[in-house]
Amino acid sequence: MDLQEDLISILKFYKSLGIESIPLADSFKETVQKSNLISSEYVIANAVKINLSSEEKAQALKSLLEEIGDCQRCKLSKGRKNIVFGEGDVNTPIMFIGEAPGRDEDIQGRPFVGQAGQILTSLINNMGKEKGFNFQRDDVFIANIVKCRPPENRDPQPDEIASCIKFLNKQVEVIAPKIIISLGRISTHTLMGLKTPLNKFSISEARGKFFDYKINGMTIPVMPTFHPAYFLRNPKDKHLTWSDALVVLEKLRRTE
Ligand code: URA
Repeated sequence: MDLQEDLISILKFYKSLGIESIPLADSFKETVQKSNLISSEYVIANAVKINLSSEEKAQALKSLLEEIGDCQRCKLSKGRKNIVFGEGDVNTPIMFIGEAPGRDEDIQGRPFVGQAGQILTSLINNMGKEKGFNFQRDDVFIANIVKCRPPENRDPQPDEIASCIKFLNKQVEVIAPKIIISLGRISTHTLMGLKTPLNKFSISEARGKFFDYKINGMTIPVMPTFHPAYFLRNPKDKHLTWSDALVVLEKLRRTE
């Protein structure tokens, strides 16, 4: 559609000037929403985002990695070996978000490569074999709430999450997945934006039900499920995460 392309190139121009959003008049908002062009209230970034090419997404993530640099923004930097940025296909419809790198991830600089990672990889690969799908681990994007390993694998603390979350948010914005799967209570509690203490939050209760993650004009459904490490101790519960995964695939089928 020429009008859409013209609009997007104008918005890209504004974005290159550093303007991130424009408020829309109510009447125009309705037209835009009816036309299915852009569903958010404030739209420059979103309009540009939904049309980013793979190269532009890859470039945006490369710039983000440069911005993170040799990060010293929080105390986790003191003990880490490597920053674990995240990895995968920038065009994926599904993004998986864990909590923090562990020992193996810290050594390799890659997310979910230890024992829990093997469980996640097999979950993803099994999802990709379901009817109507054909994907593997490399075809989705995997990231964490914080990018550096907490000492002794303790939970990341609120100040550490607060200094790191903007980088994950930027990754989500650039990748613009159709669905996020949040792995475990820290990831889910953070993405839900809950202010209640973590020890009052139960992933067993939250799992299996979508919630909306709103970011810069986008609304992305998030499916909370157990952290893969949970199954190292409770393998008999794997079927619960598998049923959450099937709900995700069904939603994707309906949005394709
Ligand atoms: N656990 C996580 O939450 N993330 C990783 O990358 C590895 C283990």
